[in-house]
Amino acid sequence: MDKPTKMEIIRTPATIQQRALALKREGRVIGFVPTMGFLHAGHVSLMRLARTRCDVLAVSIFVNPTQFGPNEDLEAYPRDFAQDEILCAQAGVDLLFYPESGTMYAADASVWVDEASLSTVLCGASRIGHFRGVCTVVAKLFNLVLPDLAVFGEKDAQQLRIIERMVRDLNFPVEILRGAIVREADGLAMSSRNKYLASLQRKDALCLRRSLDCAVHLFATGERDAGVLRQAMVEIIGQIPSARIDYIEIVDDMTLASVERIERTALVALAVKIGSTRLIDNDVLRA
Ligand code: PAJ
Repeated sequence: MDKPTKMEIIRTPATIQQRALALKREGRVIGFVPTMGFLHAGHVSLMRLARTRCDVLAVSIFVNPTQFGPNEDLEAYPRDFAQDEILCAQAGVDLLFYPESGTMYAADASVWVDEASLSTVLCGASRIGHFRGVCTVVAKLFNLVLPDLAVFGEKDAQQLRIIERMVRDLNFPVEILRGAIVREADGLAMSSRNKYLASLQRKDALCLRRSLDCAVHLFATGERDAGVLRQAMVEIIGQIPSARIDYIEIVDDMTLASVERIERTALVALAVKIGSTRLIDNDVLRA
């Protein structure tokens, strides 16, 4: 049988699951990219990577309420379904799952997927419950879309590693692929939240990449003391009055535990607020 030629937009969990089951019975390989919409070239790059490995490409657009804290930007989170639909069609998406509001969680939902180690540091330290919301929705989406493979971006390095851990520990039959960070020409990592930045803040936001470049440079010249790298990054961000550091950390790439000397591959990750917009970025230091 031919693969679906026109993009199908599916609005309820029951319908996507039936569609996925039918495709699995036909032996199709389903590739999946979960998103919260307001799509940009970073999301599209994940779709293109998935496309190379599957017969049927599924994308979800769902602003998942359970991963937002009470004082976070759930209501304000940018949305533009008409534009997202065009980008998905252009990227060759076959199934676009865009659940109607209220269909994803029962009002009395009481089962959660809680990763208890990697989730406690970096973004997890200040965003309590965030990764529980992410893991729960991704587990639900895997049960609905039944993907053979799913792609997650390195932009959210901690999320990616937590999802890999969840797949390992709960035996999901899903291969996780890592998609490289896509950046604007000046180095700012693409993010749906960049839309919040006023034009001066947009310039200030480059301090994240600048500080990472500095760490990468120091590492390349032989510096292995994580404290030295970290301090250099703090100084760069400190020059920008609108910037407030949430964290700058150098952690083991596998365990996400803080390191003092970089002897194995490490992840340098940071979260910085520019005005009220919280931005994250990271790079890998390969030892
Ligand atoms: P969202 O922020 O929409 O991101 C969806 C996917 O796109 C994630 O895997 C993210 O890492 C990736 N991504 C975002 N910006 C990127 C960039 N500049 N380059 C490469 N990839 C990028 O992450 C989520 O949604 C949600 O937490 C989700 C996994 C959908 C669960 O609700």
